[in-house]
Amino acid sequence: LPGPRSQDMAKVLPAIRSDPLSYLQRVREEYGDLAAFPVPGAAVLLVNEPDGVRHVLQGNARNWGKETIQYAALARVTGPGLLASAESSWITHRRAAAPAFHHERLDRIGEQVLDAADEAVSEWSAHAGGTVDLAPAVLRVALDAVGRALFSADLSGSAHELVDASDDAARLVVRLGRALLPIPPWVPTPLNLRLRTARRRLTTVSGQLIAERRARGASGGDDLLGLLIDSGLDDGAIRDELITMIIAGHETVAASLAWTLMLLAEHPEAQERVHAELAAHPGRVSMLSHRSDLPWTRAVVDEALRLFPPAWVVSRRSHRPDTVSGVDVPAGTTVIVSPWLLHRREESWPDPLAFDPERFLVEGAGRTAYAPFGLGPRLCIGREFAIGEMVLVLSRVLAAYRLDLPAGWTRPRHQARVAVHPQGGMPLVLTRRAGR
Ligand code: HEM
Repeated sequence: LPGPRSQDMAKVLPAIRSDPLSYLQRVREEYGDLAAFPVPGAAVLLVNEPDGVRHVLQGNARNWGKETIQYAALARVTGPGLLASAESSWITHRRAAAPAFHHERLDRIGEQVLDAADEAVSEWSAHAGGTVDLAPAVLRVALDAVGRALFSADLSGSAHELVDASDDAARLVVRLGRALLPIPPWVPTPLNLRLRTARRRLTTVSGQLIAERRARGASGGDDLLGLLIDSGLDDGAIRDELITMIIAGHETVAASLAWTLMLLAEHPEAQERVHAELAAHPGRVSMLSHRSDLPWTRAVVDEALRLFPPAWVVSRRSHRPDTVSGVDVPAGTTVIVSPWLLHRREESWPDPLAFDPERFLVEGAGRTAYAPFGLGPRLCIGREFAIGEMVLVLSRVLAAYRLDLPAGWTRPRHQARVAVHPQGGMPLVLTRRAGR
């Protein structure tokens, strides 16, 4: 298979570490939809051909597990929580967590998401007419939302500390994932020692949180923590799921919101259309608003997730030999899939870099090359939660403000961390709407 040669890899190692996404993008541009990396041992392939992507993540998902460097790095912090788990116990945990994302529960969380959004919006009022970095505020909203969904409580005490510790740990995981030659966890490198400390802190605070809830009485309650307690999982497994949800559930939503607000500021007509649609259906805007109620708003969200999918890479490893995109691969092959690259494939999306929500108003167009939430059995459990939250936050922000680009605007560069963030934040001009 075509792909970079080992000499090239040696030369570009620093570039891969500092901006892995741009490196993947260059590999795709140079070698096409299927490329092999010259790493020692089992094959590592970049697969960007839509049938191959669907085969690995969905069609033959049973053959493709999560025993990869990416998820091993994550598991150093989350343990075998839902996202990192390569074990068959994954399905038991998924079933235990699923009711926390059922419609009725999401509907109730909606009120709290709106409160969190209102708080952020009112904080901006002192700066109306000026430029405000919206990234920290949407991060706070997303954190608040996921905290409430998990603990149905404000993020004070142990819950707050757990979020703080998870954030810290997520940063270390990113660094670990970039160490291309994996160093075993027992070697006392500075990073390994910091990871060990982070994991210990997470274990302590999540243990406290679980103990506090257990002390409250017979039933755990209907939030995620309560459901996991009632499902009979042991404290270690519950802890891993809490940490997983915090890491998987807030940076991703915050990043998508920041990019969506940017795209709306860049496209005033699209912005006014979202504002008008949301304003015309105040009674119906909720976490569960249906696509048919808000077709334009949902198309904008879908298109923003196409151009800036926060989860920029997923990976799998084959248990048995298989055929991917017409190529036979042995057992133990690692496949890297990047929604970012898939969504920018000119063969699937005409004029792929253009922001054009209309694409999503056409039934089925391009959908075979669209996977912001993954595909198949490991599809994101928080998908509806995330989309509902985005719609609610947009409804509050756009009801209060018009968003514009600051003078001399250049788009922030992307920065691939756990999610792809705008580097240096998202400074936009806020103008209070008439009557607010
Ligand atoms: C899985 C993306 C929000 C929790 C995934 C996967 C993707 C993804 C691509 C699949 C990973 C793979 O196949 O290897 C996103 C994006 C989000 C988002 C783009 C926001 C825009 C959330 C939220 C939560 C969450 C809000 C929880 C509150 C999870 C979990 C998994 C997962 C637990 C693992 C599911 C399993 O394997 O059973 N997410 N996610 N995500 N996500 Fe999300």
